[in-house]
Amino acid sequence: MKKRLITSALPYINNVPHLGNIIGSLLSADVFARYSRSRGFETLFICGTDEYGTATETAAKELDLSPKALCDKFNKIHTKIYKLFNISFDVFGRTTFPEHKEVVQEIFLDLYRNGFISEQEVEQLYCEKDDLFLADRYVEGTCPFCGYDGAKGDQCDKCGKILNPTDLINPKCKICGNTPILKKTKHLFIDLPKFADALHEFINERKNTFSENSIRITNAWLKEGLKSRSITRDLKWGVPVPLEKYKDKVFYVWFDAPIGYISITKSQRDDWKEWWYNKNVDLYQFMGKDNVPFHSIIFPAILMGTRKPYTLVKYLNATEYLTYENSKFSKSNKTGIFGDQVMETGIGIDVFRYYLLVNRPEKSDSNFSWSDLQAKNNNELVANLGNLVNRSFTFIDRYFNGIIPDLDSEDFSDFWVKVKEAESLVGNLMEKIELKEALKQIMHISKLGNQFFQHHQPWALIKKDKNQTGKVLATLLILIKDLAIMIEPFMPATAQKIFDKLGSINNWQDLGSIKLKSKKIEQGPYILFNKIDDDKISELKERFSRVSEFPIDLRVAKILSAKPIEKSEKLYLLRISFGNEERQLVAGLRKYFSEKELIGKKIVVAYNLKPAKLLGYESNGMLLAASLNNKLVLVDPKNIEIGSKLAPKGLKASEKKISIKEFTKHRITTKNK
Ligand code: 2FM
Ligand code: ZN
Repeated sequence: MKKRLITSALPYINNVPHLGNIIGSLLSADVFARYSRSRGFETLFICGTDEYGTATETAAKELDLSPKALCDKFNKIHTKIYKLFNISFDVFGRTTFPEHKEVVQEIFLDLYRNGFISEQEVEQLYCEKDDLFLADRYVEGTCPFCGYDGAKGDQCDKCGKILNPTDLINPKCKICGNTPILKKTKHLFIDLPKFADALHEFINERKNTFSENSIRITNAWLKEGLKSRSITRDLKWGVPVPLEKYKDKVFYVWFDAPIGYISITKSQRDDWKEWWYNKNVDLYQFMGKDNVPFHSIIFPAILMGTRKPYTLVKYLNATEYLTYENSKFSKSNKTGIFGDQVMETGIGIDVFRYYLLVNRPEKSDSNFSWSDLQAKNNNELVANLGNLVNRSFTFIDRYFNGIIPDLDSEDFSDFWVKVKEAESLVGNLMEKIELKEALKQIMHISKLGNQFFQHHQPWALIKKDKNQTGKVLATLLILIKDLAIMIEPFMPATAQKIFDKLGSINNWQDLGSIKLKSKKIEQGPYILFNKIDDDKISELKERFSRVSEFPIDLRVAKILSAKPIEKSEKLYLLRISFGNEERQLVAGLRKYFSEKELIGKKIVVAYNLKPAKLLGYESNGMLLAASLNNKLVLVDPKNIEIGSKLAPKGLKASEKKISIKEFTKHRITTKNK
């Protein structure tokens, strides 16, 4: 039997993981690791925090901490959350461990000596004021794809497109706000084209072991053609490049992070080579789909390039996305529920595990909703599994003093045929890492148990035939033992409760066995799950839905026409359009702009002002202007579409109408022109 090496993507240290992160890699890997152990495979499950890179540097700056201090702080938070979720790591480490630097540098030098690294001159954004090349997140500007003006140098958070800092329109240094210049510098690249044949073959051999989406994403990448990718950055917080000429640069975080799987193992296991240099190991990697190319192409190429016998991924399992009440989880928008808030809900961790797993975004995106969690808890956990366990145990307690009667293999053989068939299906699904389907199948078996109970009516049967009632209840207890074995990977604490009551701990090979090790069950209570009522759910919905409101609804509009108002020297009567709606504004712009200058211009308007009357003309909204070098200028929304709403990051514009008095309470200033 091959050993199983299982990894969960190393979570970025700089934010608190939310439920989407947790189901995406950690919880999925945990279920599979627990299952593999139960099935008798020698298993090693590794994970750790991914600590280097610009995201950490910038987050540290924002909190006024050193990167190291930030990492120490967040490593504690991560550790606590994973403990709460009962994630059964064999090894949990950090990419800031000293072993990490050693292994990363060693692997790099192997690649370098083997001729897979080249040097290229690139033009990069450089801030003259800070005397710094601006890597990834040190630049912000307008996204060339969607026009969002807070796009980062490596990615637009609005449309999700991956960017290069030089793609940004109107880039600004994030530290000082100045416009950077283009300057030449050298970087190291890994020559992926040299691995093209090897990679095509590698992927081809894994057609059936990679999840469908991983294959799809990987092939899309290969189809675009492999290009050299830069692996160095101008930063301090990273693994230094071990070449004199590059001593001021560090490795790009996506170069060092995957090597973390190896270095973290090495840091805690003397037998690390038994896992990473061993043909008799199958490597399973769990992650969200955005991580796929790094694991299916880049990391394998890095390891191949060392010409050392590293274990390469065989099973790559990627999840789609989980949304929260139908919107994106987002820290900055305060949308969703984060690992550290789970405790405050008062809902047991196995209920969360169950709900996330039965809802796992396995083949398509899925959604977390409190009402759905309530329904699944009440209808599936309480009414199905919990009910089966509760009434079976209670009856044994009541009629047989807790002593489990004997059962022969001929008893209820039809029932057992059905059950064993379903159980072997569960095993197959688990092997295929279809965790959600496996869990549904387990719940189906529990339902068979409840039907069996209903069918034999032990409460009536006991009055006629105690012997037969004993066999009915023994069957149910054996079934419950099987259910506990199968749910252990999904709901370990619940399985443990059942094993405690049964007095025997079992694993996968005990499935279907009609012998129970213990002859007596522990006394009650036998309640595994509690109902969640409507009040509780409303409270949770309210509590975790707080997206703060910004009182002013700012929208982009276009001026259609401008006419001077006769009785005034200052005022124009404007007709403006929001795309699907036209309005009339009265604006005091005559001193500054001619009619012609105004027509066709895009402006920003406070949309939710209560209408006012000026010299008898209704004004429905107010446009934004600012002073620049003692001149009045209109706030220019540039390439943002007409009709778009502009709210500050993380806030949602209010729908309430506000008075001018309320409006002027809020100070709006302009920055960087
Ligand atoms: O997406 C993420 O959270 C990355 N930190 C995953 C890294 S996985 C591995 F390569 F370390
Ligand atoms: Zn964008």
